[in-house]
Amino acid sequence: MKEIARRRFLKQVSLLPMISPAIMIENVSKNNNGIISNTGWVRRARRNIPATKDLFFQTAGIGPSPKSVMKEVANYLELQNRGPVNPEVYDIIGQIESDLRKKLADTFGAEEDEVTLTHSTSEGINIASWAINWEKGDEVLITNQEHPANTIPWYSLSERFGIKIKRLNFNSDVDIVAQIEKSITNKVKMVSIPHVSRNNGRALTLDESKIIASLLKPKNIRYHLDGAQGPLCVPLNFHELECDYYSTCGHKWILGPKGTGAFFCRKSMLDSTWLTWTGSHSHTTMDQYGNFELIPAARRFEFGTRALATFAGFNEAIKWNESIGINKILKRIDSLVFYAIEEWTSRGYKVASPTSEDKRSGILVVTLPKGVNGWEIYDHLRLNKSAFTSPVDSPNDLRIALHFFNTKDEIRRVFDFIERFSN
Ligand SMILES: Cc1ncc(COP(=O)(O)O)c(C=O)c1O
Repeated sequence: MKEIARRRFLKQVSLLPMISPAIMIENVSKNNNGIISNTGWVRRARRNIPATKDLFFQTAGIGPSPKSVMKEVANYLELQNRGPVNPEVYDIIGQIESDLRKKLADTFGAEEDEVTLTHSTSEGINIASWAINWEKGDEVLITNQEHPANTIPWYSLSERFGIKIKRLNFNSDVDIVAQIEKSITNKVKMVSIPHVSRNNGRALTLDESKIIASLLKPKNIRYHLDGAQGPLCVPLNFHELECDYYSTCGHKWILGPKGTGAFFCRKSMLDSTWLTWTGSHSHTTMDQYGNFELIPAARRFEFGTRALATFAGFNEAIKWNESIGINKILKRIDSLVFYAIEEWTSRGYKVASPTSEDKRSGILVVTLPKGVNGWEIYDHLRLNKSAFTSPVDSPNDLRIALHFFNTKDEIRRVFDFIERFSN
């Protein structure tokens, strides 16, 4: 019955993407530098992403969604409001969350029971930060390259419970593993660091992550990765990273709807992870006398009425990427980053983000010509050139996020703008 109703719905609203991504997969060619050129599949994908009419280098802030994602959200919202309590509608709508958990698990190396659906990375970071009962003097290790989302929750815990925050150096060329090793004491209860820094673009390598996990586990120190910039920017396999918790979102590199996220909790950590925010839907049973049982899966961290149509769009975004090919996307991103590094340095300037293949990511951070301020050039590009980049902490740097839909021509154009501006 559920399946029939679902199929009828899909047929009715013709949920297929406007341009089938399967048709887009064609014509991949490599030039002499091994750089995938702007071929048919990229051009066609761009046509499906309205924001690419501008020079869009801000995926690390907010990713631009393809039309099929927007359409999916609109269709499900319309369906839901045909009668939210009508079983025909409810049966379809009721599938959205489990389908999405499964999709996230299958795509990013987790089990379905390890996935919590959230509305942002920040929500996941908060779940992790409240995982234990903090005591005065306990320590958390973060880095000097954090987003406020992986800083403010720790400040708040520090104010309330007197925990200490220690900042490790995650600059491009610094050994993060050695620093963690050096900082471990019996006061350290959690390590919460970026999978990819939004600020200097450094990606934690798989090897680094595995070693960090092996250092922390015997000491019973929790290991959380802030993965806002992870999936579809760099390869992501939650189990392979060996962290306990991983927080991410759908609205950056996955190009999903804004207000979508996921928190991964390693199965073995579930019962030792406290819930702070909870409510209806976190439980299997309860009574009026204080007894309750939590769902034996990470979805116990979910509660209340949620944005289901938006989650359907999140699932569609993952499928859209998959139908192009996630490895193909990641390969093209790295090729563009490699190209941009060569192009910028050949003009006599420096790149602030890591340049080695294992540590670089889709987040390219360039050091601007002498005297050019990141905020100033960001405003100039945004207001006069329809080019969207981002300032970062260092005032002389600029972040240029390179997704697969960007092109070498766009990269050259933005570099030309910067050079002209500085002269
Ligand atoms: C590294 C990092 N962490 C967390 C966040 C916050 O993400 P969200 O808006 O999904 O909470 C961002 C957003 O840019 C980020 O770059």
